[in-house]
Amino acid sequence: MAVKANGNGVARGLRWAENFVLSHPQLSRRSLGLLRFACPVARIGDTAIVTRYSDVVEVLSRDNDFTIGLYSPKMEAIAGRFILGLQQSPEYEHDVSVLRIAVPQSDMARIRTVVGEIVQEIFTQVAPLGEIDVVRELSDVVPARLSARYFGAPGPTELQLISWGRAQFRELFYNLRNDPAITAPAMVSSREMQEHVEKLIAARKAERAGGAPQRDDVLGRLVAFEADGSVGIDDGWIKTYIMGLILGMLPLTSKAAALAVNVLLDRPGMLASAHEAAAENHDDLLWRLISEAMRIAPQSPGQYRLSDGVWTLGARRREIPAGTKVFAATQSAMFDRRAFATPSRVRTDRPASRYLHFGYGLHSCFGRFISYEAQIPLMLKALLRQPNLRRAPGPPGRLAWDGPFPNSLTVTFDQS
Ligand code: HEM
Repeated sequence: MAVKANGNGVARGLRWAENFVLSHPQLSRRSLGLLRFACPVARIGDTAIVTRYSDVVEVLSRDNDFTIGLYSPKMEAIAGRFILGLQQSPEYEHDVSVLRIAVPQSDMARIRTVVGEIVQEIFTQVAPLGEIDVVRELSDVVPARLSARYFGAPGPTELQLISWGRAQFRELFYNLRNDPAITAPAMVSSREMQEHVEKLIAARKAERAGGAPQRDDVLGRLVAFEADGSVGIDDGWIKTYIMGLILGMLPLTSKAAALAVNVLLDRPGMLASAHEAAAENHDDLLWRLISEAMRIAPQSPGQYRLSDGVWTLGARRREIPAGTKVFAATQSAMFDRRAFATPSRVRTDRPASRYLHFGYGLHSCFGRFISYEAQIPLMLKALLRQPNLRRAPGPPGRLAWDGPFPNSLTVTFDQS
């Protein structure tokens, strides 16, 4: 199937549909299911939509053929040369290696402790009220505080950091057709954030120069690497990577958590199982239920790539012209019965490695351990331990959106 998209009206329609589907993946499930059945690699205008599991994995594995060329210029304009905008190369290898030393997996126990403390602070405040806004008081706040306490990069305020994250993330990932109404505020936000991070770096360097002991957080480690010259990074590099990590962490963590809670609230059986798992510290079962909730309503229906040549793709060997935008529909893939048996059922026996929540291949999520071993499960566990958790009555109990981002969802519970 190849549909030609000519004329301004059609182009505008495609732009709207593309942004809408990217922002609200839960609404696109049925249409992607139809494509998976009838036309697993569908070419529509300058885009190919890939919907079966094995084909999606093929796209994301062939990182030299299907590149991140769509992200690179935007990433560079917003934050600088960051790994998600880089091809497999010595530069990519260098940058990801330095980041891994600054954010090692061996920090997970510490990160869990920090996230646990933040979550505890939040619930100590809200427990007597019997009510919490899952987005504004929990899923937005936890990564903003982790940014301050582990990454060493607080915002001028938490709200400012959250707002910067949304504006720039939207430009990077939800504005493929370059709507200036999204680009302009993102660029203002980028300049403000760059100035802020420059000040944080300068303050750390001044501390070092004054003989203060090195603070052991991500920013502190990067500033120390710069000073000892061991890994060849400078202030600009540190600014780019602190910004990129914050932009990668804040909006997605919040969106993924809020959507998962929303799914659980819609399904009493699933909610009861998750409540029991949280109350009895069955962390593995709880994570399996959360993974299923994230599959039903993921933060994004998939990832875009750019075809770097004329390639064939998928079990049916469809030809993909050079310059085609290739949409690897990870959500659709997680409903493909060839990889996820009885996909419409919630099952807790699926192999964890099969989920695509954190992408696949070269660019799979750098922060996945922080997400699935700390932030998402600890936030949701604390929430689910609250007795008789339910939506607040009326509109506050329904998920409200700020463009593509959840903005508010109030739940109530019995006071303990
Ligand atoms: C639930 C929360 C999160 C979800 C669902 C998520 C999802 C993803 C996905 C799907 C990708 C792949 C993008 C692509 O292939 O085009 C990705 C990449 C990335 N994520 Fe996450 N992410 C989350 C949290 C985080 C956190 C906490 C951080 C930082 C601490 C982070 C940093 C990154 C970075 C740096 C990349 C690019 C990796 C590379 O290019 O090699 N993410 N994430």
